[in-house]
Amino acid sequence: MDLYEYQAKGLFAKNGVPVQRGIVASTPAEASAAYRELGAELAVVKAQVKTGGRGKAGGVKLARSAGEAETMAQNILGMDIKGHPVHRVLIAEGVDIEREFYFSILLDRANRQNLAMCSVEGGMEIERLAKEKPEALAKVPIPRTGMDETLATEITQQAGFDPETGSKVVPVILKLWQTYVDEDATLVEVNPLVQTPAGDIIALDAKVTLDDNARYRHPEHSELVDQKDADQRELKAQEAGLNYVRLDGQVGIVGNGAGLVMSTLDVVAYAGEKYGTRPANFLDIGGGASAEVMAKGLEVILTDPQVKSCFVNVFGGITACDEVAKGILGALEILGDNASKPLVVRLDGNKVSEGRDILGTANHPLITMVQTMDEAADKAAELAAK
Ligand SMILES: Nc1ncnc2c1ncn2[C@@H]1O[C@H](COP(=O)(O)OP(=O)(O)O)[C@@H](O)[C@H]1O
Ligand SMILES: [Mg+2]
Repeated sequence: MDLYEYQAKGLFAKNGVPVQRGIVASTPAEASAAYRELGAELAVVKAQVKTGGRGKAGGVKLARSAGEAETMAQNILGMDIKGHPVHRVLIAEGVDIEREFYFSILLDRANRQNLAMCSVEGGMEIERLAKEKPEALAKVPIPRTGMDETLATEITQQAGFDPETGSKVVPVILKLWQTYVDEDATLVEVNPLVQTPAGDIIALDAKVTLDDNARYRHPEHSELVDQKDADQRELKAQEAGLNYVRLDGQVGIVGNGAGLVMSTLDVVAYAGEKYGTRPANFLDIGGGASAEVMAKGLEVILTDPQVKSCFVNVFGGITACDEVAKGILGALEILGDNASKPLVVRLDGNKVSEGRDILGTANHPLITMVQTMDEAADKAAELAAK
């Protein structure tokens, strides 16, 4: 999950990384009130969108009065920055900037390590810096034992800092590392990290990506989830405790067990090559697939406008096929008119003949029963093309 600058700065402040005070506003009036509350003569009004280059796009403006803050907010709110509409601005204390640096820590997946990047030439986009002046950008792998003062000092040296400035940056690097580890981030980026004429080091911008797989360790992070941005379908599935990932195809997929669902995606993708159709999602309803859980899963899938057919692939184990069959029928009943797309059902395993009997007797107009996984995948892919 990517964070907004103001959220990232909240985590910075919590972990002792120096940031200026700031207040979030979603209307021009709130912006002028925020300016007054800050009580600083110079303030900056910054668009809060999850993309970089806001300054260049006109989304970062200085304000020297409450009236100016209001006008700036008026101009910035509602702007569209690289496809991201601006709903909020951050009003932050203005900083007298002497120099701008660059610093980041990221999970370097390809090399299976954490990587620190640092440069005395901050401010400009890092992609440009890396391309135009690669020698100015230090890239230092962080060993498994983590970051310590010695390594942080080495980073500042490689980045081209003079020893005096470097010694001021080192404690900030250590705090940023602490943030990265303690918050389970995969990216912490500060561009620019600035030095004021007084010599203080401040994180003027903040970009943080949190590791979603570590979310369970951080109940406090749930307030950072932007309900507006997140895929509504994924949120709904998450609330129902379902393991759901939306993809971009037309064949909805439900199965029990992650391995089965993954191989179902494979066979549907393969079968779909003939028809030009692809899997629309991954959805694992888990072991105890009751009618209610099946209904929630089917609801998530069948109400998705991109879905044209659905493949229910269940291997009865602890939950036997007769229960699953009842679950599917119960789900269709619960969904009523919301279920209007063809369902291809393949049951196998524990109590398979009982399960098939139940579906056979029900003779539901939307359900096609198919014996094998390959045939079922083919049928679902074909129906999605119609
Ligand atoms: N609090 C501030 N005081 C003064 N100038 C600022 C402040 N915040 C940002 N700026 C200026 O605006 C530029 C862009 O801001 P930044 O937060 O880096 O946004 P982005 O990276 O999206 O363009 C910075 O490089 C800095 O020069
Ligand atoms: Mg920036």
